[in-house]
Amino acid sequence: MTAKAQALPDTSHTYDTLMKVSWNFDYGSQIAKLDDLYERAKDNQWNASELAWDTPIDPSNPIIAQEHSQYGRMPFFQKLSRAQQETFMAHSTAQMLSQFLHGEQGALLTAATIAHGVPDVKAKYYAATQTVDEARHVEAYDRYVNKIAIHYPMVPWLKQLIDVTLQTNNYCKVMIGMNMIVEGLALGAFNNMYRQTEEPLLKAITFNVMRDESRHVSFGHVYLTPTIAALHADDREDLAQFAFDGVKILMEGQAAPMDAGFLKVLEVSGIDAEDFVAGMKEAEALGITRDLPPGQIHSVKDLMMPALVRAGLITPRTKAMFEAAGIPVNADLTVLEAMEDKKSDMNVLNAEQAAY
Ligand SMILES: [Fe+2]
Ligand SMILES: [Fe+2]
Repeated sequence: MTAKAQALPDTSHTYDTLMKVSWNFDYGSQIAKLDDLYERAKDNQWNASELAWDTPIDPSNPIIAQEHSQYGRMPFFQKLSRAQQETFMAHSTAQMLSQFLHGEQGALLTAATIAHGVPDVKAKYYAATQTVDEARHVEAYDRYVNKIAIHYPMVPWLKQLIDVTLQTNNYCKVMIGMNMIVEGLALGAFNNMYRQTEEPLLKAITFNVMRDESRHVSFGHVYLTPTIAALHADDREDLAQFAFDGVKILMEGQAAPMDAGFLKVLEVSGIDAEDFVAGMKEAEALGITRDLPPGQIHSVKDLMMPALVRAGLITPRTKAMFEAAGIPVNADLTVLEAMEDKKSDMNVLNAEQAAY
């Protein structure tokens, strides 16, 4: 090292995991649908470099228009100055995009973990395609976040949920934590962003990412549903407990007081945090922030809970726990089946005509 060399700032976070690595010399699979999913994963690869990165982003034309934002419809928000409203919209959108970026890195790590751990070779093939999908998603959101040049840290509960998922020794739990819980959340958030934004580059990125995510959610179903059905009841109960614990981290995280990142959004916008909380309560009492605008999806109710029910991951014991925690167990598959990849990735391409 020369005298001039300086240590780079350490941006990594490293820990040991317990996952067992699994070889398998039977190159077949017990699950025929994995072949189909793998073929479609290969057919639907896309190159993030080929998107229109030179698209100018007009600062006077926000990424999410105020009328499409739940915050924008709050009476409190409408009383803020024009400058405060614009700064808040720009930073709250950037804060969400940073969560997409960091969440995608978590998905990259879990997909690679599944390729290591899952014993079925065809599931390894598929997990390898998901790993490259997730690398592409990190690449695309990293480029976009750099383009808007506003960066926010990962919210603690999302990091905790993905860390708990990565630190298990059971590949089924990694798939539950990522392909059912986090990707259920992501698919809903991407759908909502796709419908909220008119910014063409972000719309194109989100559209392509959603196509991949719909396959990832399908992988959770195609692989886990028959695998869980074949388990001893005690092992199924153990997975059901993990699913409950994961959803609880998510729900408690979303209900928790604002994290440091969101407080920063308020600070740069010149908004007092206590005034903002009072404004949220006022809007909620008026039914403004509770009701999602048409076409918006509630990730937990519409995607995550039906996926867990369908996979046999809600047992009578955990159903009572969900209900005691105020999390309704919704078994209606309508939205999930409309969103996920079944026969063709074209289902989300036709999002405007979709029935959900
Ligand atoms: Fe992804
Ligand atoms: Fe994914």
